[in-house]
Amino acid sequence: MNNFEFYNPTRIVFGKGKIAELNRLVPKEAKVLILFGGESARKTGTLDEVEQALGEREVGLFSGIEANPRYETLIKAVDKIHQEGYNYLLAVGGGSVIDGTKFVAAAVNFEGDLWEILTSGGTKVTSALPFGTVLTLPATGSEMNKGSVITREATQSKRAFMHDSLYPQFSILDPVKTFTLPPRQISNGVVDAFVHLMEQYLTYPTHAYVQDAFAEGLLKTLIDIGPKALATPHDYDLRASLMWTATLALNGLIGAGVPQDWSTHMLGHEITALYGLDHAQTLAIVLPSMLKEKLPQKQAKLVQYAQQVWGINEGSKEQKALQAIELTRAFFERMDVKTRFSDYNLNDDVIDPLIESLTQNGMTALGEHHDITPEVSRRVYVASL
Ligand code: NZQ
Ligand code: ZN
Repeated sequence: MNNFEFYNPTRIVFGKGKIAELNRLVPKEAKVLILFGGESARKTGTLDEVEQALGEREVGLFSGIEANPRYETLIKAVDKIHQEGYNYLLAVGGGSVIDGTKFVAAAVNFEGDLWEILTSGGTKVTSALPFGTVLTLPATGSEMNKGSVITREATQSKRAFMHDSLYPQFSILDPVKTFTLPPRQISNGVVDAFVHLMEQYLTYPTHAYVQDAFAEGLLKTLIDIGPKALATPHDYDLRASLMWTATLALNGLIGAGVPQDWSTHMLGHEITALYGLDHAQTLAIVLPSMLKEKLPQKQAKLVQYAQQVWGINEGSKEQKALQAIELTRAFFERMDVKTRFSDYNLNDDVIDPLIESLTQNGMTALGEHHDITPEVSRRVYVASL
């Protein structure tokens, strides 16, 4: 196991009816800006519930944070805070609203060009407004981590940043809030959480037995409950396990002390930035081809994955690895997330622009061995057509 430091100060308040706890969780004297997305928070009644729980506190609203939140929209929230003087933020929504809120929290007191928050990967952030979240979509883990991914429309760039000041102070996870999600978002959430686990688990063995066991347990849970959560949308226990699994998949726990990959995410971000596919769709396209491309370097872990997660005990090491990759693809398809560019009406015209954009964004030495160069990425994209 590698040396590590683990820090995660986010309080999780989990369960049915827990939005009422906002009154306890948000400071009494706070002037709160509630940030949300399109109309789902209002339509589902969650926004009303949140406002009611905040009681007498002074509250403002900022709506319209898009899926794949945009810099151009978020800077309007920063202006609103400067003009109206909020000192506490509350994100009500999925990963996009939470990520957008993190950017706004970091931007309010940032000196200089706000896009540098992204280009520096967060190293230039010095402080952030305090904030909490009410999660309505299990997927990203943003509710319990310090990361955020923002898109700049003008340059079609999708970039990530992180900073210790960007852990939410608390996140309320009420599984009932997921009942209104369209099936596509449940599919996306399961695939996103699955790939988060894989990016931290599927590298090379480091005798990190407990991290491996956690990751394998969470992967098996998703394989078991994912299709059921799609089929029976109002099953509280399934949604509860899905919600907690997605949080645990990217809250730092399973990634502490192990090498990490993240190349599938970086290749995926470019697809969303240029062609607008959902985040999870891009991961479902890239991951199977990436695993195949890196099979020699990842073989030991792929065999472990085949045995521990999929119960494959027959065949050579290579056969086990290949079978596990095919079962992974089949699982994404079973979750109704397609795994080829052609399924989204994209053809080989996309390859050159994707490689150009990856290179421009400095994504030229990816993966746990930093050996995924643009040439390797090209092979992965081509194999995903
Ligand atoms: O905008 P509204 O009307 O709220 O609708 C949203 C949105 O259209 C809807 N929705 C959310 N909760 C709902 C609901 N509809 C009905 N009922 C509810 N309870 O769902 C749609 C998708 O929401 P979004 O927040 O975009 O989805 P998700 O949570 O999958 O977030 C995706 C974003 O997170 C980033 C992705 O890149 C992408 O931009 N990621 C963030 C990470 C992080 N911060 O750690 C890690 C991830 O790898 C990921 O990159
Ligand atoms: Zn993701």
